[in-house]
Amino acid sequence: MDGQSERWRAYVVDGWEWDDTLFAGSAPYYARGRLPYAPGLAGVLAEVLNLDGHGRLIDVGCGPGTLALTLAPLFGEVVGVDPDAEMIAEAGREAVELGVADRARWVRARAEELPAGLGTFTVAVFAQSFHWMDRDLVAATVKGMLRPGGALVHISDLKPAERTVDVTAEQTADRTVGGFPHPAPPHEAVAGLVRHYLGPVRRAGRGVLPRGTPGGEAAVLAGAGFAGPHRHVVPGGQLLERSADDVVAAVFSLSSSAPHLFGTRRALFEADLRRLLRDASASGRFSERVPSTEAFVWRNDTAAD
Ligand SMILES: C[S@@+](CC[C@H](N)C(=O)[O-])C[C@H]1O[C@@H](n2cnc3c(N)ncnc32)[C@H](O)[C@@H]1O
Repeated sequence: MDGQSERWRAYVVDGWEWDDTLFAGSAPYYARGRLPYAPGLAGVLAEVLNLDGHGRLIDVGCGPGTLALTLAPLFGEVVGVDPDAEMIAEAGREAVELGVADRARWVRARAEELPAGLGTFTVAVFAQSFHWMDRDLVAATVKGMLRPGGALVHISDLKPAERTVDVTAEQTADRTVGGFPHPAPPHEAVAGLVRHYLGPVRRAGRGVLPRGTPGGEAAVLAGAGFAGPHRHVVPGGQLLERSADDVVAAVFSLSSSAPHLFGTRRALFEADLRRLLRDASASGRFSERVPSTEAFVWRNDTAAD
């Protein structure tokens, strides 16, 4: 991204500054590693937003096209925006694979660079991406890109205290506890291994985020003049069988353990991770549930809310 960083407005939080290595190397792992959104999400959005196959969607921080691709049949055109070149490439490939390339467009840009001549939209979605942005700036810009009555939808996993079942060694041997055929991925042990390699403070790009990413997006969106929100919880809970490769992909899909962070010790880390997973499940299979998905719908004008 030579020359781009200068024209990009710096986004700084707690001394951490956004840089373009944030998800470097994660894209090939993303679609496989991340747990899916709740399967009913597209149906709920179609109903709530009256989607009829027309209109335009912008998916800001689209990653490998997760949401834009799912929602493509509900719009005339979808535009995915993401600064990570590999994410955009994955999205483009998958659009061809799914036969929706004719109605999908992928733009490599930061949200802070919008509107970028992309025109006006019926719906804007931010799925687990808004917290990486200069939110006041982006909210104001996107509001100007939405048609009157249009909607901004903020989407995230609803993480309950326990979305999986952690089982003891004897229970693992029994393999039937809680109706789960396999043990849960050993999330705590994996987090410990990542800390061992990368240090105790959460890494992000070239910096660290001691207090994580900012919350409180409701105040930001209300401050930008959006009306609402209306909250919709789409139930998850479906049982998934995950392989060790899936769990490894999940780890590398995270900004806090993205491949680039391990440098020359990446292969060593992956070998340790796979050893840990083998210790947790001799079969190499894991059980996990799809998290519920939380969608907050904000309207572009008060009359429509
Ligand atoms: C956790 S991923 C979410 C991807 C996708 N929306 C999903 O729900 O699966 C966050 C994405 O936001 C992108 N991102 C990070 N900072 C951004 C920014 N300032 N502007 C636009 N996208 C950004 C990252 O490159 C990454 O692809």
